[in-house]
Parts: sequence; C-alpha cells; structure tokens
Amino acid sequence: MTIGILTSGGDCPGLNAVIRGAVIKGDRIHHETFLGIRDGWRGLIEDDIRPLERTEVRGISKQGGTILGTSRTNPFESGGSQRIAEVMQKHEMDAVIAIGGEGTLTAARRLSDDGINVVGVPKTIDNDLSATDYTFGFDTAVSIATESIDRLRTTAESHHRCMVVEVMGRHVGWIALHSGIAAGAHAVLIPEVPVTLQQICRWVEAARDRGRAPTVVVAEGFIPEGQEREVAPRGLDVFGRPRLGGIGEQLAPLIEEVTGIETRSATLGHLQRGGVPTSYDRVLATRFGTASVDAAVARQWGTMVSLVGTDIKNVDLHDATTVLKSVPRDRWDEAAILFG
Ligand code: F6P
Repeated sequence: MTIGILTSGGDCPGLNAVIRGAVIKGDRIHHETFLGIRDGWRGLIEDDIRPLERTEVRGISKQGGTILGTSRTNPFESGGSQRIAEVMQKHEMDAVIAIGGEGTLTAARRLSDDGINVVGVPKTIDNDLSATDYTFGFDTAVSIATESIDRLRTTAESHHRCMVVEVMGRHVGWIALHSGIAAGAHAVLIPEVPVTLQQICRWVEAARDRGRAPTVVVAEGFIPEGQEREVAPRGLDVFGRPRLGGIGEQLAPLIEEVTGIETRSATLGHLQRGGVPTSYDRVLATRFGTASVDAAVARQWGTMVSLVGTDIKNVDLHDATTVLKSVPRDRWDEAAILFG
C-alpha cells in the first residue's frame, strides 16, 4: 500500500513525532511506502508530493513544526474530492493520513464520505477536539505558558504591578485554565465563562491586598460579560490605521483605571506553538502515528485515532467533528475557588 501523509492547519509541537511513528511502523512492520504531501490539502490539490523515506524521519520527534509544511487550505474551496482522487490515482496513493484540527478533520470526514480513503490524526494545542481526551501539542503549550507566567510574575512583583497574560484559545479556554492553575493565577478568563470587568477587578484588588502581584490569565477568545463581540479600534497605530489590540491589551488599562494598580499586559501568541515538544507530547504523538498506520492497513477509512484514558482507540470522524470540546463549567468553578 502507498500512504500519503499531510499536516494541515496551525502547526503544533509533536507533528514530526506523528510522521516518524507512522513511517517507521509502516516501513518496518507493514512494509508500506509513504509519500509526503506538502502544506496540507494544498499539496494534494496542487500535486506537490514527494517520496517520504524512513531515513528522513530519523530523530525528528524532538523537532518542533512539521517537516511537511502546513497551510489552512480548504480542499472543498479548490477542487474537492474529484481533484484529490485524480492526484491520488496519478501517484498510486491508496490512502491519506491527515493530521490536523477541527477544520482538517471535517474536510477529511467529507472526503471519506465521498469515497476517499482517509484516516485522521487529531492535532491542536487548544485541546478542543471531541472524542479524544487529549491532543498532542497541548501539554507543550501549557508548559510554555506556565513558565512565561512564572517569569512575568517576578517582574510584576518587583514593580508591585498587575500582569495580564493573554494565551491562545479562540473558542475554548483549556490552555488558560491549565496554565492559570499551574502558575497560581488570581483570575482565569475563558470564552466559556462570562465574567464582568467589576469581578475581575475585585479579584485583582483582593490579590493586591494580600501583598501579591495580581496575575490575570486570559484566553484570546474571552469577552467580558456585558460587552459586544466586535473588537473596537483603540486609536490609531503608527501607520495611521485603526489600532486593534488583543483582549489582554484591552483589559490592562481598564483594570488599571478601576483599581488604580499599575497594569501591564503580555501576549504569548505563537511562542506557545514553537520549539520542542514535551516528552508527554512526543509519546502521545508517536502512539497516534503508529496507530494511524495500523488503521490504514486495517482499512478503517473515515476513522480517527484518539486517546481514551490511557489507550489509543479508533473513533468515527463524524463523532470527532460535531462539537468542540469546551471547558465544562464545573472545571472552571473548581479553579475559581483559588482566584483573588
Ligand atoms: O488553533 C490553534 C491556534 O493556535 C489557536 O489557538 C489560535 O487562535 C490560532 O491557531 C492562531 O492561528 P494563526 O497561526 O493562523 O495565527
């Protein structure tokens, strides 16, 4: 069998470990041949494909990013199943292992419904995919965020300031929740739980009154209760364009205004996705990689490998892509006991 591998959507520490696990197991146990598809679905639509040899994946599980490149190309906006079937036929490619997040796996599900042989591997630092307990990349992102918050805390303490730290999470607050708990934040703000500016300021003042440097961790998708969803420009930037700050940058001056505590903000951004994966992520990604080849050899098309407890299972892509896994209210309540 000839198997194509692609990585699609935002990159994520651990992608290379999946590729390595799949290629080594496929080569050693099942004697399969692999093709590397460049930049996700784009490579499959534009026929940007090359052989992927076992020698190429040697030692890459510790490497961040993806050796195959990635893109956010949606195959259904440029050719769809018919074009993909043509390209696969040209390369005598029997199946595709698609490693990606919600968008990628939704496309994989649709392609599978159209008769393309696909196996999915869940990937996202956000940990927001249903039908898997964890995704690789999340542990790395939480570790980087936790270390950054710890570092920001020492400078805030020296200056008796409040620090607002914005972490990734457009739709869900898993990174904010876990890094906030780990770093002992005084408030964790996530998209799933509306909180007013007044409440945030009460937590900040309570921390200050106990002699602490108030630390607020906010997920990028958080909107304070009672506010509009649209981001309003805050003045003009140096190029004369409307200035759009993230939620952390928007909250900091308001907290300062209400509490009188000097406040700074830091946005961690893509730092959370860069560099070497943690050992936990390398192990999970490697297990996903080897299991995805087993699923392809067993012709379990339209499925996705997933972590259930400590076991790797196969689940239907339909179950994996219907709802995002958000933070349950009781998980946030559990953490909120420690705020302020
Ligand atoms: O989905 C992963 C993620 O890192 C989100 O947390 C973040 O909002 C988004 O990707 C950033 O995307 P981009 O790399 O396209 O700016």
